[in-house]
Amino acid sequence: MNNKIRVLICNCHGSVKLPKLEFGPDTIVEQHDNLCNVKPKISAEDKVVIAGCSPNLLEGIYPEINAEFVNIFEHIALIGHPAEKANALIAAAIEKAKHTEPIKKKTFEIKHKKALVVGGGIAGIEVAFQLSKNGVDVTLIEKKPFLGGTVAKLDRLYPEGTPYSHTLMPLISNLGSCKKLERLVNTTLTEVSGRPGDYRVALKTVPRGVVECINCGKCIDVCPVEVDDDGKKRKAIYYLPTYPDSYAIDFDTCTKCGECVKICPGKIDLNEKINETEINVGAIVVATGLNWYDVKKVEEYGYGRLEGVMKTLEFERAVASGTLHPKKVAVIYCAGSRDTNHLPYCSKICCLLGLKEAKLVKDRFPEAEVYVIAMDMRSYGTFEYLYNKLRDRGVSFVKGKPSEILKRNGSLVVRTEDLYTNELLEIDVDSVVLSSGFIADTETFSKLNIKLDGDFPVLFENAGLGSHELPRGIFTAGAATFPSGVAETLIDARKASSSALNLLREDRIETRLPQAKVDEEQCSLCRMCIGTCPYKAISIVDDKIKINEELCMGCGICSVTCPSYASQLEGWNHRGLYEQIRALVDKGDLLAIMCRWSAYNATERAAQDRLSYGENVKIMRVPCTGAVDPSHVMLALNKGARGVLIGGCYPDACHYARGNFRAKARESILRMNLELMGMDKNRVRLEWIGKDEAQKFIKIVEEMNK
Ligand code: FES
Repeated sequence: MNNKIRVLICNCHGSVKLPKLEFGPDTIVEQHDNLCNVKPKISAEDKVVIAGCSPNLLEGIYPEINAEFVNIFEHIALIGHPAEKANALIAAAIEKAKHTEPIKKKTFEIKHKKALVVGGGIAGIEVAFQLSKNGVDVTLIEKKPFLGGTVAKLDRLYPEGTPYSHTLMPLISNLGSCKKLERLVNTTLTEVSGRPGDYRVALKTVPRGVVECINCGKCIDVCPVEVDDDGKKRKAIYYLPTYPDSYAIDFDTCTKCGECVKICPGKIDLNEKINETEINVGAIVVATGLNWYDVKKVEEYGYGRLEGVMKTLEFERAVASGTLHPKKVAVIYCAGSRDTNHLPYCSKICCLLGLKEAKLVKDRFPEAEVYVIAMDMRSYGTFEYLYNKLRDRGVSFVKGKPSEILKRNGSLVVRTEDLYTNELLEIDVDSVVLSSGFIADTETFSKLNIKLDGDFPVLFENAGLGSHELPRGIFTAGAATFPSGVAETLIDARKASSSALNLLREDRIETRLPQAKVDEEQCSLCRMCIGTCPYKAISIVDDKIKINEELCMGCGICSVTCPSYASQLEGWNHRGLYEQIRALVDKGDLLAIMCRWSAYNATERAAQDRLSYGENVKIMRVPCTGAVDPSHVMLALNKGARGVLIGGCYPDACHYARGNFRAKARESILRMNLELMGMDKNRVRLEWIGKDEAQKFIKIVEEMNK
């Protein structure tokens, strides 16, 4: 380790021409030709400033060290700015390096080479199989008494109408060959604590009632409780041909009359105890599938009020079990979907489910009339042939959104407009199928602290990432991620299992993600940081602020919120940034503080497009605009800067959820204060600048320079 700061200056294959630079006795200056390809020996403990091409590139080449990067290629050489400016940028980076705590490497041991799979539908079954086949210990839990999930309730799968059993049974059989697999039905996850590689999970298993079973079925003959199970009648004690191969009691409906106990030649116990256990796992895969949207909320369609109005699953099960013989059917699309009063999004698979139901009717009752009423038909990809096939088989497609369903003279009447003919139609039918959208199982997500975007997990959560660098060890698979058909679900399950496997194969994972740190002496326990953290990484433990390292993403928003500067972001602490600005800004400069994810890239793009701008524009890179401290802006103005531009991600595009909105609020206050002080408020501007918006960046700095 060297106490002096090493300053590595790259001439980028001769593109950057600088005179010999000196930065004082605390530094050792080294000249290089090609730091992208020829890496000098640098110890992880060295304090280093690297001046060369884009930090976005160099950070990837030097991930193992703590360096301050200065872009003298794009910000100086490409746009013909002078050597003095390069000197100032490097000198400022040296000041920051001198006063900044290095980002420490964090290591998470993958202590438990075991996975928990939550959800026993096809996604969970496939994940469990793939992991187990690859030598991982797996516990698969399912909240219902049988494995199979939604698919086990279907009659057939789209597009061709193949019975569900063709897909589900082989998947369930696969599990039989898995050596290190534990299958727990009637089991839910109640609590989770820990971190990637070392999660402690509490599980609750409620009894199935049937202890010993020879599958004689005598119990269902005597059970007096009849249950409508999504369009199909069953008893409170029932059987599904999946797993386990025994009857089970649905205790939500069972009256405990004891008739089944009397007749059972095996053993039924109506008073079995709930079993609570804890297990340790290294990874968790959430495969909880989807839930149908509650179409009762679409009141005008009369679900639950008008007999004959059904959901797709109920209709399919009723037709398949022979209890329903429809002669005239209307299938209504987007029942509560793409509607701001209900689900604003398209659930992707409901158009295909609607086509499947239309085909089911035509297959079983060729003479039946079928109307499909849809605003749009989204039979994506190769599924288009199913739509065309049904047209050929006489299914009528009406473009419109029904306004109402009512009962008249014993028939259901669907009132709709036909947007092709501009006519108002009233279609008499005996059955209405509502093809509604889907919502996710938010209960499990909230227990796992998985961030949701509306109803479904945000994209990086799907990949099990807490950020782009740190895997959280929690993955989502199949329709839990977003509604998907059977084939897509299985593909997604395989992807999720390989992600989990990649994590569990490691002995430890390392990261250099900066973390917020709190100086307990300085902290006044005001708790303001707790509410501002987008990741719920801050809490109070034993009357002290505690940062959860696994959850902190290094945005720096809390450090700016803290009124006593007790909270600091590693690598970006207050003092370091203060000294950087003090060294960087001269009278008449325009300081551009740019978010690394968006606006900073636009400044590089400007140079690549040879769009030049004033030599007085000095660019700084920050993790997020939410980490820009108003006192730093004031420092730049006090040093004589003509203005400060803060460039960040567009609304809703901030890498750290809402950092840019916090920055906007601070900018408004700053501008108001400037006005109160009799200064021009336009000297401070916060602008949304996309990563390719070089022209926008140029236009703004030109305006501010006028
Ligand atoms: Fe760009 Fe927050 S990450 S403004």
